[in-house]
Amino acid sequence: MKTCKKNSPTYTIILIFFVVLVSNTILIPLLLVESCDPIDKEALLEFKRGIQDNWFQRLGTWVPQTDCCTTWDDVTCDPATGRVVKISLIGFWDEFGVDTAYGMEGTISPFVGNLTHLQIFNLRALAGISGPIPSELGNEIPLDIGKLKHLTRIDLSYNHIYGSIPTSIGKLSQLQALLLPYNNLSGSIPTSITQLSQLQDLHLDHNQLTGVIPTSVGKLSLLQNLFLDHNKLNGTIPSSIGNLKHLQVLEMVSNRLSGRIPKQLGNAKELKRVLLSRNRLNGSIPSKVLNLEKLQVFDVSRNQLSGEIPAHNLSIPASAFSRNLGLCGAPLPPCKRL
Ligand SMILES: *[C@@H]1O[C@H](CO)[C@@H](O)[C@H](O)[C@H]1NC(C)=O
Ligand SMILES: *[C@@H]1O[C@H](CO)[C@@H](O)[C@H](O)[C@H]1NC(C)=O
Ligand SMILES: *[C@@H]1O[C@H](CO)[C@@H](O)[C@H](O)[C@H]1NC(C)=O
Ligand SMILES: *[C@@H]1O[C@H](CO)[C@@H](O)[C@H](O)[C@H]1NC(C)=O
Ligand SMILES: *[C@@H]1O[C@H](CO)[C@@H](O)[C@H](O)[C@H]1NC(C)=O
Repeated sequence: MKTCKKNSPTYTIILIFFVVLVSNTILIPLLLVESCDPIDKEALLEFKRGIQDNWFQRLGTWVPQTDCCTTWDDVTCDPATGRVVKISLIGFWDEFGVDTAYGMEGTISPFVGNLTHLQIFNLRALAGISGPIPSELGNEIPLDIGKLKHLTRIDLSYNHIYGSIPTSIGKLSQLQALLLPYNNLSGSIPTSITQLSQLQDLHLDHNQLTGVIPTSVGKLSLLQNLFLDHNKLNGTIPSSIGNLKHLQVLEMVSNRLSGRIPKQLGNAKELKRVLLSRNRLNGSIPSKVLNLEKLQVFDVSRNQLSGEIPAHNLSIPASAFSRNLGLCGAPLPPCKRL
């Protein structure tokens, strides 16, 4: 019968495996100082100081004595660097609105600008976050260019954030989603936003934004969804939107937009939803737009449009064209020929 010798390779491998296992599970956590970066920890604690946690005490685990990477709820670190990469504190919402019981009140500390490795910042539907978006989010101090350069997603939807959108947001070069709908933001849309070359989702709807849509919005070459509904935007719809080869949804309902619907929109071949109702648009509807191959939903009601509705193959209800100055032709009654 063969017996296992003490110094056989199998025995050694098992021994090494055992030592590694023990040191990983018992020794390393005991010996290691915490993995949380001290600057990040300070920033998170400052953020917590600005927030009154409603009934669920979700920030209860955020205490100075513990490791923010391993024991704090809703915080994620990169294990390699110990830097905070994600804050995701999400409230509860459904088709009836936001449930404030799951919410939090307070303001966003400028110290979040110190979380230089943050990729995802999500405070969606907390209902009670107010105050401005700190400009530190895209810190403009020249030496600090590239601060927060990892941020890919900002979601502050369904809160009471006010003030204007900081120009510094244009410095967040990796940003793919800027979701700020259902807040109380005012001022105009900073042109710097059009520098966000990775942006796919721009949701600024349901705020108090004024001024014009930056004409250079067509530089956002990866943009897929543009929601600007329910603001007070004026001026014209920039024709550069026609350059947006990936744009699928364009919603600008209920603003003060005037001038014509640019025929260049017909170049944005991926468009499937175009909602422009409740504005002051005039002129006629460009045939190229109504005949976009992927278009499914189109609504230009309550504007000042006139002329014949171009021939099209869409099944759009008459209500989508109603309450304009003088549109005619299917699905509205035929135009009167002189
Ligand atoms: C953290 O942010 C605060 C507020 O912007 C700032 O005063 C402080 O200098 C920052 N700390 C570091 C280490 O960058
Ligand atoms: C929005 O801001 C205005 C002042 O700018 C204020 O009167 C209004 O109460 C705010 N609304 C909400 C929902 O916070
Ligand atoms: C847009 O509205 C602002 C006031 O909010 C006004 O000063 C500006 O002239 C308007 N611009 C256009 C193009 O209508
Ligand atoms: C559309 O409105 C603008 C002012 O917003 C005006 O200058 C223009 O003449 C109007 N065009 C038509 C076709 O009514
Ligand atoms: C509508 O579809 C028919 C059949 O597919 C086609 O012949 C016609 O040119 C289309 N009309 C328009 C305006 O695209």
